[in-house]
Amino acid sequence: MCGIVGYIGNRNAANILIEGLEKLEYRGYDSAGIAVINENGVEVKKHKGRLSVLKDSLGEKVLEGTIGIGHTRWATHGEPSDVNAHPHLNSNNAIAVVHNGIIENYIPLKEELIEKGYEFKSDTDTEVIPHLIDCYYNGNIIETVQKVVSMLEGSYALGIIDSNNPDMVIAVRKDSPLVVGIGEGENFIASDIPAILNHTRKVYLLENNDMAVLRADSVEIMKTDGTKVNREIFNVNWNVESAEKGGYDHFMIKEIHEQPKAIKDTISSRINRMGQIDIKDITLEKEYIRNINKIYMVSCGTAYHAGLVGKVLIEKYAKIPVIAEVASEFRYGNPFIDENTLMIVVSQSGETADTLAALRLAKERKAKVLAVTNVVGSSISRESDYPLYTWAGPEIAVASTKAYTAQLAALALIALDMAVKRGAVEDVSEIVNELKLLPEKVEEILKHLDEMKKMAEEVYKTEDIFFIGRGLDYYVAMEGSLKLKEISYIHSEAMAAGELKHGTLALIDKGTPVIALATQDKLYDKMLSNIKEVKARGAYVIGVAKESNREIEKIVDRVIYIPEVMDELSPVLAVVPLQILAYYVALNRGCDIDKPRNLAKSVTVE
Ligand code: AGP
Repeated sequence: MCGIVGYIGNRNAANILIEGLEKLEYRGYDSAGIAVINENGVEVKKHKGRLSVLKDSLGEKVLEGTIGIGHTRWATHGEPSDVNAHPHLNSNNAIAVVHNGIIENYIPLKEELIEKGYEFKSDTDTEVIPHLIDCYYNGNIIETVQKVVSMLEGSYALGIIDSNNPDMVIAVRKDSPLVVGIGEGENFIASDIPAILNHTRKVYLLENNDMAVLRADSVEIMKTDGTKVNREIFNVNWNVESAEKGGYDHFMIKEIHEQPKAIKDTISSRINRMGQIDIKDITLEKEYIRNINKIYMVSCGTAYHAGLVGKVLIEKYAKIPVIAEVASEFRYGNPFIDENTLMIVVSQSGETADTLAALRLAKERKAKVLAVTNVVGSSISRESDYPLYTWAGPEIAVASTKAYTAQLAALALIALDMAVKRGAVEDVSEIVNELKLLPEKVEEILKHLDEMKKMAEEVYKTEDIFFIGRGLDYYVAMEGSLKLKEISYIHSEAMAAGELKHGTLALIDKGTPVIALATQDKLYDKMLSNIKEVKARGAYVIGVAKESNREIEKIVDRVIYIPEVMDELSPVLAVVPLQILAYYVALNRGCDIDKPRNLAKSVTVE
């Protein structure tokens, strides 16, 4: 996820662009840049690092020009660097482009342009766009952009300026957010409203496949096929602080709602048109995969819970034994590692000290390391042999949500890729089709927030809440319990439902809240028995089950249904109600949801 801004009017563009980018840094901050049009043509300033580095490089010198675009980056293709920073230019520096999203077919497009003699400076997917505009320019920049956009696959919010057409900024929106701000004698584009709220509260919320042509005194909106459209002006009544959260009260609830896009972005460019797994960003050679004798899955916290699900999927599909361990234990243990061991580390930040130490230990023992991380250029991604990125965008809330579900999606892709390469399964089409349906199923769950809100009101005063489950549901119970603990400070633990009778059942008393996960078809009846066990001791049970399994509502106090999904992918759905429940419990308790006490977003110390 990145932040883009654009301006055209009668004021200095550079100042307005920088100010806008400051409001968008939460969308990405590994590099930043601006481009303006003045008598020198297109002038660009861009640097790796936070926006402050760019501002320092500009110094007191004001970049002249009253039209420009800007970008603050969250790298997906091409690690953070000056040359990979946006804006990207065509060969004669006349056309500048900023982009938020992922161009999924950039490789064939880039190959075609190189064959035509175009030279690329960066490793980004974005750079194909200015070269395509240059290549297909027919004298009309608007028509040319329409032609180029029709060639792109993936998600994109674009800001485009052209020194041959210095009276306009062109914006295009598909799957990545983009708004147009309407001023007096000036107009703006931005990824999010915060970037322009100091200048206008009148915006057009562009829709998918909308294109806007901004001049100083006019805004024309059309579809990318040229069809004219009328968009209602939206009058913003948010304050700046809440606007950074997209109108949500907290980053956590915003990020919970970003999960459909995070999952979609993580999987879509890694499944090809034939429905096959096609992970281009890492090359796990078939020969190597076939020789792997075991996998260590090592991570911390929520990432560890994702790793547990990954363990089940890899063992089921790729038929490779997986040992899942928390990094802080692994690194001081005596693991059996050799060159036929693969280590998979999972880390949202890519900077967790324990996980990084585990990675280094594995490499010392000649094992290869595959890293599932959310930060391009992070220490763990750089030191791994196979960095596979979740494309969840920056996760600001300390409590991890969208990164977790994106990790599950990435681990499913890895399991299936390995399974096919080992010849362990013939046909993965069923689970691939189910993977592709996950975003819309998460959207479906998000329509029922009020149910979880009511349940949170019933349990938020308690001092203990238990989560029970079997198989994958047990691992999801662990994640649900951690979410609750870390933001509401209520004591909670996840218990293997089959273990209750071996001791933990003693903790259940009259009114004790128990969240019972029963989404695994083959364990459903067993779970109903375990629910009856705790109900018999007076527990107050909230059940989570698939919508076809209605038996559960006869024995629990409340039930949350999730859409039908195969058992192996149910963690991606089952966790969402638990995230929401934790959020509303913490809200009711007046906790600092995005920044819980004692915790940090990235634990870079032991
Ligand atoms: C999860 O909500 C916590 N913030 C924490 O457990 C986190 O998952 C853990 O510290 C690992 O962080 P990482 O994914 O950045 O390595």
